[in-house]
Amino acid sequence: MLTKKVEEALVSQIMKEGYSSNLYLAMASWAETEGFEGISDWLYIQADEERLHMLKFVHYVNDRGGKGIIPAFEQPPIDYPGIKTMFEKVLAHEEFISASINDIVAVCATEKDFTTQNWVQWFVNEQIQEEKSVRQILDKLKILGENNLYIFDRDILTLRAAEAAPNATA
Ligand code: FEO
Repeated sequence: MLTKKVEEALVSQIMKEGYSSNLYLAMASWAETEGFEGISDWLYIQADEERLHMLKFVHYVNDRGGKGIIPAFEQPPIDYPGIKTMFEKVLAHEEFISASINDIVAVCATEKDFTTQNWVQWFVNEQIQEEKSVRQILDKLKILGENNLYIFDRDILTLRAAEAAPNATA
């Protein structure tokens, strides 16, 4: 059984993960209309991952006797000023999500809910990876410069493939 405070924190995270999914979906759609197929594919995949994150929270809350409420989501921006600015926004958003996950850990500690604290550890580690992967993208964009977006768009999915490789290091 979840305490009220832990349940509130988890339900609030359902909203944040769902918004992340919609945000990346909106970015993917924008990138697709701009002709960036690789970047849009990366973002569509990321949107799917965020939806799975949201579902993990929904199922956990329900499994522990709470109510996994699905909220109305704020509409994400439709247009983005450029690829680099957009990925800077992705990084800022992931840092916000990491802070939110840390807040859940803190609530669990205060409420002495060590079961949920243990469960949410998966997300703590996931956030390390997500931030790292967006920082890698920004590093590559810096090296290539905004004039080489064709190459970046062609190669971005290889970054994801490298991460998914079984021998990829953390
Ligand atoms: Fe599920 Fe990227 O935070």
